[in-house]
Amino acid sequence: MRDGRRAPVTVLVYHPAHAARYAALVDAPRGRVRVRVARSAEEAASAIADAQVLYAWDVPARLYARAARLRWLQVMGAGVDAALVPELPPDVTVTRAPGVFGAWMAEYVLGWCAWVTQRMATYLEAQRARRWAADVLPDRLRGRTLTIVGLGDIGRTIARAARGLGMRVLGVSRTGADAREADRVYRPRDLRRALAAADFVALTLPLTAPTRGLIGARELAAMRPTAALVNCARGGLVDEQALASSLREGRLAGAGLDVFEQEPPPVDHPLLQLNGVIVSPHIAGATED
Ligand code: OXD
Repeated sequence: MRDGRRAPVTVLVYHPAHAARYAALVDAPRGRVRVRVARSAEEAASAIADAQVLYAWDVPARLYARAARLRWLQVMGAGVDAALVPELPPDVTVTRAPGVFGAWMAEYVLGWCAWVTQRMATYLEAQRARRWAADVLPDRLRGRTLTIVGLGDIGRTIARAARGLGMRVLGVSRTGADAREADRVYRPRDLRRALAAADFVALTLPLTAPTRGLIGARELAAMRPTAALVNCARGGLVDEQALASSLREGRLAGAGLDVFEQEPPPVDHPLLQLNGVIVSPHIAGATED
């Protein structure tokens, strides 16, 4: 500052596994920005005090107590719920990365739906039994109904891709306002009607106080027994015990679950043991885009 130049802004990049890869994405004017990298809470604990900007995934909330200079938190993930904790100083601006995750999640959701209609589980089982299952024919996604709960940029990207395959798309959004990507959009109060009409339901909404437990026993009961649920948003949106009961009792045909209330889920979690459930380790929005 002595020569009149401004001190560089410190950006702390925090990610337990891929911090260096994310740091390489920071396109910063030389001399104006200092990039620091932390791969663990211990490393971040010493660096966070200097940071004005934090570019991060899954920061332990206790670290925010040291973040006296922090002004901007850029969340790496699709959802910001983990950042909205009371420990975060109130004047910090939190931003996410719209436009990045939708294409990945569209492939995840539609890949899962196609796994079902293409009868892959049946062919895999037949293969393991050394049986040529020529009597089982696949089905089409064309004409099937996909209900997308949450029509933000991710939900709308999935909707466009689904329509490209000839699916009928219903949406549920906070306002219920028409969207050109969906055949019809329902308000939250009509959620069960939108669920009842679906062959597949995809959850793409944020976890907030009002959405926690949104898909409970009554919502699951509204779904067709032939329908399937794909959750690539947050585990806390769904009552996992109620989902396990619906699947076990044949009131729902399947579930594609990328997220759980607790991650990783305990090894004896009931949803890990049910037919028709495919679990992935929170990778639906994996991205280096
Ligand atoms: C998330 C993500 O926010 O995977 O969960 O991006």
